Amino acid sequence: MADLAVITGASSGLGVKFLESVIHRYPQLDEYWIIARRKERLEKLAEAYKDKKIVPIEADLGDEKLYDKISERLEKNKPHVKVLINNAGYVKSGMFSDMKQEDILSMISVNVKGMTMIQKTFLPYMGKGSFTVITCSVSSFAPVPCQTVYSATKKYIYYFGRALREELLEKEINVLLLCPGNMDTEMNPKGQQRQGRKINRLPFLDMDILTAKALEKAEKGKGVYTPGTFYKFYRVVSRIFPSLWLMKTAKKFY
Ligand SMILES: NC(=O)c1ccc[n+]([C@@H]2O[C@H](COP(=O)([O-])OP(=O)(O)OC[C@H]3O[C@@H](n4cnc5c(N)ncnc54)[C@H](OP(=O)(O)O)[C@@H]3O)[C@@H](O)[C@H]2O)c1
Repeated sequence: MADLAVITGASSGLGVKFLESVIHRYPQLDEYWIIARRKERLEKLAEAYKDKKIVPIEADLGDEKLYDKISERLEKNKPHVKVLINNAGYVKSGMFSDMKQEDILSMISVNVKGMTMIQKTFLPYMGKGSFTVITCSVSSFAPVPCQTVYSATKKYIYYFGRALREELLEKEINVLLLCPGNMDTEMNPKGQQRQGRKINRLPFLDMDILTAKALEKAEKGKGVYTPGTFYKFYRVVSRIFPSLWLMKTAKKFY
């Protein structure tokens, strides 16, 4: 039985860093499945780690037929999924009234439906000692105006991950919710401007450090990891202060 790691959203940003950290921490795994739409990016990554069996899977998580196809593949090979990094996500910021329908639907279909169905599809192949890291966000701690849909999808992820972790405790499968703030990726490039004003002014996180720590914490059975002192502080504040006050403050950073 092959031991696997699976990483979604592996074609850029945090997913690429996760692949690096997973290979570093678990070099003995038989296969590393990397999932995203941009096939050429996945193939380049497979080239870069020639000594490992990297399996690129070109897939759109919004395509509901995908999950049956993955299930058939799993059923045939019956692997053991040791590590599942459920990371793919999509964001579009701006006033809800100005948003395009396709962006709204993409956020719901990748962040909510895709994340849920990836977990459902791989779970039967996880066992004692396996774990999943689900990429959530600090946007799940309080509603974020101008990220109205995105923050709502991340709240869904937060509740989903917390409840699933509780369900899986007896099976000794851990679920870690990773709740990062700003990271310099395609989704949120450092120094991005809107109308001549820098928009992402809060601290940026080091993805090498946070992916390594996320794996360590997931392995140890932790449930939530918020990297960085500033964002840890925000998490505490979000539990104490009313969300109306937090929303008004968050609006100033938009
Ligand atoms: N960057 C930040 O500041 C930040 C902060 C908090 C949380 N996050 C979360 O971190 C996670 C990773 O994002 P990132 O920052 O690394 O952004 P990114 O560089 O834009 O990466 C997003 C990844 O998701 C994949 N993806 C998007 N739509 C997909 C679809 N329909 N089907 C399959 N794969 C899809 C993309 O691959 P393809 O385009 O090749 O399909 C890409 O690999 C997300 O869940 C995001 O919400 C990011």
